[in-house]
Amino acid sequence: MRPEFLSPLMRIPPDIVSVADYESLACKHMSASAWAYISGGAADEVTLAENHAAFTRLRLKQRVLADLDGANSRVTILGDTFEYPILLAPVAYQKLAHPEGERATALAASALQAGMVVSTQASTTLEEIAATARAPIWFQLYLQSDREHTRTLVRRAEEAGYRALVVTVDAPVNGIRNREQRTGFTLPSEVAAVNLRGMRPLAAHTAQAGASPLFGGPLLSSAPTWEDVEWLMGLTSLPVLLKGITTDSDAVLAVNCGAAGIIVSNHGGRTLDTLPATIDALPAVVRAVDGRVPVLLDGGIRRGTDVFKALALGATATLIGRPYIYALAVAGAPGVAHVLHILRTELEVAMALTGRPTIGDIDLSAIW
Ligand code: FNR
Ligand code: LAC
Repeated sequence: MRPEFLSPLMRIPPDIVSVADYESLACKHMSASAWAYISGGAADEVTLAENHAAFTRLRLKQRVLADLDGANSRVTILGDTFEYPILLAPVAYQKLAHPEGERATALAASALQAGMVVSTQASTTLEEIAATARAPIWFQLYLQSDREHTRTLVRRAEEAGYRALVVTVDAPVNGIRNREQRTGFTLPSEVAAVNLRGMRPLAAHTAQAGASPLFGGPLLSSAPTWEDVEWLMGLTSLPVLLKGITTDSDAVLAVNCGAAGIIVSNHGGRTLDTLPATIDALPAVVRAVDGRVPVLLDGGIRRGTDVFKALALGATATLIGRPYIYALAVAGAPGVAHVLHILRTELEVAMALTGRPTIGDIDLSAIW
């Protein structure tokens, strides 16, 4: 029987030189429904497309003959030093992309000294990923409807050595994922949210005829609120970042609530379609936060120049989602390492050609 899709490559061919090259190959290395889940966005995918299009619209300003002696792309975030400002965003169910899943990603992040954020919905236990990692790891937390379950996840993350918690606040319900619906996406039996084992999910809710399919059911009545975030702050001494903020008003609430950092994100265009691109939402958040906590950004980063533009508009660092998952599908751990290497190289070339020897030198004046 012909396999439905190709196995990961054992060798990276020399004509793969960019994130886009991985993206165009990735669909051949996973099932059609996994491809729909990973590459797709919500509804008409306006935000998904806009995340990258908005980066493409920005132009850079060159500066020649600058002194680049001692140049580096190091950043310090919450007391940890990262060799370059590109972290791996939390992505659920990585075994959909590669049989080694999150372990392969952690090996690559360790080899390339990149920070990694591990999803609550990882298909590998958070302890196993932590045992593999040799670079700072953060745990992405979905607040559970039962606080005891949240408490258990937090304690496990603390004990396993995670350095921060990233609470994702933009997805109390899944977006309208038409692409997934059309392919009939369901998880294959070998892929599961293993960290949530034993934690009873909400009972399925069937609305009566004429009743709301969403409101009035258990899903939204137990959806997290600012009060739950405050409760979490009292539960842990780890720094807590909030991921999925795109407005100045929510950013202020987050800082007042004790957030140690903010991740400007629209979930890679997977939740509410027609939200603006994250790079367009960033400046207002940066202004509102006014340097009190680091502001990170993800969504649409496909080039080192995109990372550079985010830093110029005030981000402390950036995260990538789909780019490394595409590389994981195509070539496993070496693929993920290669994508990190490609983006870091592109960022550092942009720094050299704009005459910015350090991350601290990248500011608004680098944008045309
Ligand atoms: C995600 N993302 C995500 N975010 C999160 O907080 N927890 C999660 O479990 C997941 N899972 C997930 C699965 C898949 C397949 C994708 C593509 C994304 C969102 C992710 O962290 C990040 O915000 C976006 O992926 C960033 O956009 P790009 O880089 O994919 O354009
Ligand atoms: C997603 C969830 C898992 O984006 O965050 O698919």
